[in-house]
Amino acid sequence: MSHQKRINRKTFFKWATVALAAPMAYVWHLSVSRDKFFLQHRQSLEVEKNLPDGVHFFDRVILVKENNTYTLMSSKCTHLGCKINKTENGQMVCPCHGSRYDKHGRPVKGPATRQLAVIQYQLEDHDNLLIFTYEL
Ligand code: FES
Repeated sequence: MSHQKRINRKTFFKWATVALAAPMAYVWHLSVSRDKFFLQHRQSLEVEKNLPDGVHFFDRVILVKENNTYTLMSSKCTHLGCKINKTENGQMVCPCHGSRYDKHGRPVKGPATRQLAVIQYQLEDHDNLLIFTYEL
């Protein structure tokens, strides 16, 4: 005599959903954790003290110097993420779709509508160098 236990359709789908969702949630968790790890590591930027006033482009950041005050911003365009790498008429211009930002990172022409991310930094003053340390 065999004792086969039958499960109904509702129970089967409930367990099938759990069986599929758990691995997907785990993969999603790994990808989010990895992004945080890569996006939030500490970086530094060295510039000469005699850097002229204006907008200066570095790899992933933009440094604006004005009357010995510095603003550090992400160079990632808030529209679709292209790297902003030039100025025209005093405005920072995205090469992909032409968004323009003022020297504070505020959008003055779309399609971007959000301000560039301003980055908090710590500043070390060495002989001829300024070293900005920040997390990005
Ligand atoms: Fe910069 Fe589209 S990505 S304007």
